[in-house]
Amino acid sequence: MSAPLAAAPARRGIILAGGSGSRLFPLTLPFSKQLMPVYDKPMIYYPLSVLMLAGIREILVITTPHDRPLFERLLGDGSSYGIALSYATQDEPRGLADAYRIGADFVGTNPSCLILGDNLFYGAYLTDMLVNVSARTAGATIFGYHVVDPRSYGVVEIDGTGTKALSLEEKPEKPRSNLAIPGLYFYDGNAPAYAREITPSPRGEIEITDLNRRYLAEGTLHVEVLSRGTAWLDTGTHENLIEAADYIRAVQNRQGLKVACLEEIGLFRGWIDRETIAKNAKAYGKSSYGEYLRMIAAEGVR
Ligand code: DAU
Repeated sequence: MSAPLAAAPARRGIILAGGSGSRLFPLTLPFSKQLMPVYDKPMIYYPLSVLMLAGIREILVITTPHDRPLFERLLGDGSSYGIALSYATQDEPRGLADAYRIGADFVGTNPSCLILGDNLFYGAYLTDMLVNVSARTAGATIFGYHVVDPRSYGVVEIDGTGTKALSLEEKPEKPRSNLAIPGLYFYDGNAPAYAREITPSPRGEIEITDLNRRYLAEGTLHVEVLSRGTAWLDTGTHENLIEAADYIRAVQNRQGLKVACLEEIGLFRGWIDRETIAKNAKAYGKSSYGEYLRMIAAEGVR
């Protein structure tokens, strides 16, 4: 009789939710940008929902030391949503790849996914795409998203197949393509070791683009171009913030379905049951979120 196959190690998730949020001062003087509202939920709900949709249950939230208690108060240990949350702090914004130094013990040699706490994704087939990408065990996957002006982002240039990167640049003055790289990255178990080797860039940061370049150099970097039907919204400026809120409001009011309801996703994934949702609903009182949870608990997900 042959030995049973060992289960693949579960992918771990990291949400990087530190930084100074200085572009939004004075809004972000008292607390982090990722706690600010995007219409009816705190911003961090949206990236957390993306990790959950990808099937990721063990998640590390990296915050500033000052705001860690606020995030803990908001999200707790994650059991309300059927996930396991842990917390770590970053004392200063040393760069996105620093998440893999801070999270090295948490990730170990497991595959992982890093999402920025201020990036919002929504759209048809997003869940299928996330699950497919998450099933890749070797190498890294980044995404490309067509924007008018990619100069304030990482930029990827791709070949004719549409899946292979030719070059990666961080905030180039003369971008080689219109494909910005959103703040969502999937890595195999090598990411913590590779992140340790990165030296700070001229702007003093441990760049995620350098981590991605390492995978590009070894020929294991995959690129997925997000379809036109996908929304990737940034929340860096006051304008972006209100556009994101308007978008969520329009979609939710039209459909009567909430974007990024964490309990609904937990139920969809089979991680929690309706009784748990009914119990959770009490904590939200008469808010629309509470009403929605009561609806989900009573009727299930359509
Ligand atoms: O949003 C996607 C872009 O994010 C990518 O296209 C770029 O390649 C990537 O470098 C990054 O660019 P940004 O200019 O948006 O990075 P920013 O420094 O604004 O940081 C993004 C978020 O991460 C922000 O909410 C703050 C947080 N952060 C940032 C740094 C550098 C941290 O929590 N810790 C950090 O050390």
